[in-house]
Parts: sequence; structure tokens; C-alpha cells
Amino acid sequence: MILCQRHLFDLPEEVAYFNCAYMSPLLNSAVAAGREAAARKAQPWRITTPDFFSGPERARELFARLIGAAAGDIALVPAASYGLSVAAANLKPPAGSRILLLQDQFPSNVYVWRKLATERAADLLTVARPPDGDWTQAILAALDDSVSLLALPHCHWTDGGLIDLARIGGRAREVGAELVLDLTQSAGALPFDVRDVQPAFAVAATYKWLLGPYYCGFLYVSPRYQDGRPIEFNWIARAGSQDFARLVDYREDLQPGARRFDVGEGANFGLLPVATVALEQLNAWGVPAIQASLRGLTDRIAERAQELQLRAAPRDLRAGHFLGLRLPQGGASDLARRLAAENVHVSVRGDAMRVTPHLYNNDADIDRLFGALHRAL
Ligand SMILES: Cc1ncc(COP(=O)(O)O)c(C=O)c1O
Repeated sequence: MILCQRHLFDLPEEVAYFNCAYMSPLLNSAVAAGREAAARKAQPWRITTPDFFSGPERARELFARLIGAAAGDIALVPAASYGLSVAAANLKPPAGSRILLLQDQFPSNVYVWRKLATERAADLLTVARPPDGDWTQAILAALDDSVSLLALPHCHWTDGGLIDLARIGGRAREVGAELVLDLTQSAGALPFDVRDVQPAFAVAATYKWLLGPYYCGFLYVSPRYQDGRPIEFNWIARAGSQDFARLVDYREDLQPGARRFDVGEGANFGLLPVATVALEQLNAWGVPAIQASLRGLTDRIAERAQELQLRAAPRDLRAGHFLGLRLPQGGASDLARRLAAENVHVSVRGDAMRVTPHLYNNDADIDRLFGALHRAL
């Protein structure tokens, strides 16, 4: 278990922030990196040609380490939706086959598949929220050889409902289906290894559990798809782009591995240093230790929530960093606003109140949460 790390963040004592699933705060060290990044842009002679490559390589390497991949398997993207668009541009579900999604899945991981299904004359198969909360069984029950593609998260973004991706990956391979993952609500907090799951593509935006900035993300591309088609045609993704003097010797060949899929201006001198500092800290803590520590917090919150008739999913069916509490008579919509007025921050998605802590939360925050809930309910 990791002790409370609040001293590394800029969180006033009176603020109880339980909303990492909405947007994480930055580490103080990441804020310093952002300031230094802005200062370098103020003096652009300090940004040299090798920096266009070394910053991205370091970030790739650190994200790859978190998910059991190699640096060359990682592309730089600005958003989850961009990474999912790269995936869709490189997958060809046969006509009449089905693309499997979850009920109430995050829209960036829905619209793109609606479009692909229309283009390929394929169908969508939406797995309904299982009454017992067991998404893994519900997905396995729906997964037959009519399914060519599954687009899934590791836990549901509304309430943390957990999906056993290793089991689903194994079954997907048996029926010949590809797996595309949106890890935005889990990467950095929930252990995940591409070698166990073997997805075709997996994306994560950095501004939640990767403790990074908005407008940054990483896309894992399986070696099986690394000769695929990028969705834009930027100069730096071309082979030999390190030699700025020769850029007008136009070339058709591309940078090796997943680098060909990088968004234009992926070196992102303003934001990537911020994301990199956060990745260094996450790697130093270790994702299993982060998960165990956050589970300790959510277990305590789930237990105290019972007094107020707030129901969480069974412990083994929810991700440890993520709590979705359901009110006895529904109607959570006004609750987040009333708690925020008391400096207690949660969010409401669907009929669940999301309580999503991180290592900065302490006992006083939990007391504040329950004090505010007692007054609001
Ligand atoms: C599951 C999930 N995926 C992705 C995102 C962000 O998507 P994008 O990067 O396309 O804005 C969010 C934001 O709430 C999310 O909850």
C-alpha cells in the first residue's frame, strides 16, 4: 500500500476531490514541467532538432512500460477518439458480422463503430447491463463467431463495472474476433498487460488516471497492425524525417512500428513533458500498488455508504479505483452540484454517483464526503 501522497499535489485541505474519473489534478512536478515547457517555447533556440524525437521516445517508453508493451508499439495521439479512429481505419469487419459494445459505453468508443458498421454493412451488438453486474459473463454469453470485433473498456465509465479482458481476449481469439480497447478510465490505475489480453489496438487519454494533461494520449498498436494506414499524412511520420535538411526529398516509407500513426506535431512541446513527468511517477509507484491503495479507499467508502442505503457493485465485479454508488430511489442528478457546494467533488453518470479517489485522498476527505452526503440525502 502506498501512503497518502497529497503533499505532491496542489489540493487545499478543505477540498475533498473524488473525481479522478472526470479529470485528475496534476502533480506539482508536472506543473513545474509545464512551466519549463512554456519557458522553452519563449526561447525557441532551446528546442533543438533531436528534441522532436527524444521527448516522444521517452513518453512512448514510459507508457509502454505501464502496459507490458515496447516503445515502438506506441503512437502519440491527442484524444481517445483519435486512437479509436486509427483502429477503425485499419479494421475490416466482414459484411453481416457484428461489432460488440456495451450498453451506455463512452460515446468516443461508440460513434466510430456506428460509422464503421454502416460502411462495412456490419451490425452492432450492444450487450445490455447485466442485472447481477457481471459484465464478463454477459460479454462471453454474447460472443460467438458472428462477432468480428469487440470495442471495450477495462471498466465501465459510469460505475467502474470490471471486465476480465484476459478471459475475453482468449475467447475472442477462439472465435476469430479482434479486440479494441479504450483504457482511458483504467490505464495507470488498474494493472493491464497487452501480452495477457492481446488487443489489436488500445488507447488511453492522459487526463484522468495517467495524471496527465488534457489533449494527450497514447495508442498501443499490435505488431500485427503496424504496417497499417495512418489517418493523416504528416512529415515527421515519414522515414528519415530526422534529417530536416532533406525533408523535400519526399518519401513514401514511414517511421518504424506504431510511430507512423502519430498525430501531427506529436512532439507536443507544451504538453508531452507534463505527461512524461506523470508517467515517471506512476511507474515509480507501480500500477499494482496504486490499485491496491485505491481499492483500500473505495472499500472503506463502499462500506460506509451502506448506512445511507447507497449500493456499490459487488467487490469482485468492480475496479478497485472506481466506485459507482446507486441511490435507493435513483435521482442522483442534483447530488453532485449540492456536494460541490460543500467542496466535495464527485460526478453523476447515468443513475450512479461516481466516487473516484487517487493517492491524494485522505481520511479527512472521506469524513467530508460522508458529512456532506448525510446533509444532502
Ligand atoms: C471511457 C472514456 N473514454 C474516453 C474519454 C475521453 O474521450 P476523448 O479523448 O475522445 O475526448 C472519456 C472521458 O470521460 C472516458 O470516460
